[in-house]
Amino acid sequence: MCGIIARASPDDAVGALVDGLERLEYRGYDSAGVAVQHDAGIAVHKHAGEVADVRDEIQAAAPAGSVGIGHTRWSTHGPPTDANAHPHTSDGGTVAVVHNGIIENHAELRGFLSERGYEFTSDTDTEVVPHLVEHFLGQADETLTAFRRAVDRLEGSYAIAAVVEGEDRVYATRAGSPLVLGVDDDACYLASDIPAFIEHTRDIVYLEDGDVVVAEPDGAQVFDADASPVERRRERVDWNSEEVGKGTFDHFMLKEIHSQPASLGKTTRGRIADDKRGVRLEELDTGVLDGVADVHFVACGTSYHAALIGARMLSDVGVRTRVFRASEYAKTAGPVSETTLVVPVTQSGETADTLSALRTANERGAATMTVTNVVGSTAAREADESLFIRAGPEIGVAATKTFTSQVVTLTLLAQQLAADLPGATPRDDLPELLTALERIPEHVEQVVTSSRASDLATRLLEYDAYFFIGRGMSQSVALEGALKFKEITYEHAEGFAAGQLKHGPLALVTPETPVVGVFTGEEAGQTVTNAMEARTRGAEIIGVGPAGGPGEAASDIYLTVPDTHPVCQNLLANVQLQLFAYHTAKELDRSIDKPRNLAKSVTVQ
Ligand code: F6R
Repeated sequence: MCGIIARASPDDAVGALVDGLERLEYRGYDSAGVAVQHDAGIAVHKHAGEVADVRDEIQAAAPAGSVGIGHTRWSTHGPPTDANAHPHTSDGGTVAVVHNGIIENHAELRGFLSERGYEFTSDTDTEVVPHLVEHFLGQADETLTAFRRAVDRLEGSYAIAAVVEGEDRVYATRAGSPLVLGVDDDACYLASDIPAFIEHTRDIVYLEDGDVVVAEPDGAQVFDADASPVERRRERVDWNSEEVGKGTFDHFMLKEIHSQPASLGKTTRGRIADDKRGVRLEELDTGVLDGVADVHFVACGTSYHAALIGARMLSDVGVRTRVFRASEYAKTAGPVSETTLVVPVTQSGETADTLSALRTANERGAATMTVTNVVGSTAAREADESLFIRAGPEIGVAATKTFTSQVVTLTLLAQQLAADLPGATPRDDLPELLTALERIPEHVEQVVTSSRASDLATRLLEYDAYFFIGRGMSQSVALEGALKFKEITYEHAEGFAAGQLKHGPLALVTPETPVVGVFTGEEAGQTVTNAMEARTRGAEIIGVGPAGGPGEAASDIYLTVPDTHPVCQNLLANVQLQLFAYHTAKELDRSIDKPRNLAKSVTVQ
């Protein structure tokens, strides 16, 4: 939540800051602002609204300045108003700060500062930071010392960037919230995520918690938590600015749906044996799987749905598996021992609930291995091991390509565990499954190019509610289909286990509630029976499944998927439901890439 950016360069920073903020908007879009250093002091321009709403004004009003910071906000403390927008400044306007995270002891710090005469103009937790820096500037010889002393007083999670009047440099730090340093020949960047500066540089440094950075146009110096200068490893990211642009698509979400053949190709590349008799997950050569007897998945939202499918894949090969909502994990007295492998599934690697579950698992002595999209994310750094889903950057708030890559990665993981763990049994149909996984890019291409979901969307507006049903793995697809649908259409949608419909939810079914049946896999026939119970009550049935499958005749409208392995059919059904949600939201003129009240990376519990 919230995105921050900073740039120190010899030329004007404002344009790059605003462009960068637009690339970070998936993290929040309640307000935006920048602060730039110039001859007459620090100029701050900030407003409620999306970056595009404030862009012209920022660009027109901001005087040129070569060093600056910027922020796009997802509100936590205080509503989305101009006053609560970042950057926040100290009383005298000598310090400006942007922040992502939560300062947990902000009330206590407010008291400390108020007693000393500092005045607050916003409801935010962040505003204590510029005042604290200014306070310590009065006591320290160097700004770096004052900045560090201020940061030392903070409790909570934060990535912070600050500018101080008269200094052509940015001070920044992180603890529990992401912050990446980008280094160009003649400029330095700091941002919550790489897309913010990828058009300028692909050379990056992942910072450690407690690091303090002083970034100047000709380079950045990093100090560790003990204030000693430190060299962090510089890396080159293997994607480029095209991957973070919309290209010719109307929305990032549509682009990301269409890019799944490529992303899934990357997910499987080099991981399936040529003879299709096994998988090879090189990252797992570290012994993290040694002695594992059972697996706990912890995840939220869409990633939770991917974990449900992963759990089914593991159970199929005889591995004891449970799936927990990450936000509940700390409260479950789940049996965890050193033979438990806890797997946080998180595309961002920054979700606070999932990180909390990961920390609980680490404290309880379990082995931990995150399944994530983001190299260098907090989850990747705190887990014993990481398995990367390789989906590439995803900007649309509604997860699409990361979900399918998560499912494929977990499917591969299950086959690896089947081979490695005593007591687990490889699937009889392993060659068929792996062959189908290799063909998944081609099958997804068929779905996205021939889908009738857009015709369907125009027919199905203005109903009371939409119910999604399925059984087994297709139940998880139904749950995910409903989540995607409600998230971007703002229509009421719920997913149910098909067999449970008659135990309660059927009371809600009327001619005004279409039922989406996921008729894939071996249990499709039974799901059809449950769909008929709804049809008898007047509901229109929208089916998804293979041509000629049991669901086709039972459906009023049918979206087809290639007749491949049942596991892959589910993945393809999900792609149809992504398109159904997308086109319905488009017909309803919703804000598809930035749905109301949501943000992509939820860094608060
Ligand atoms: C929905 C969506 C969210 C995320 C959830 C967890 O489209 O994207 O439900 O799946 O917030 O996020 P990650 O996977 O980053 O932990």
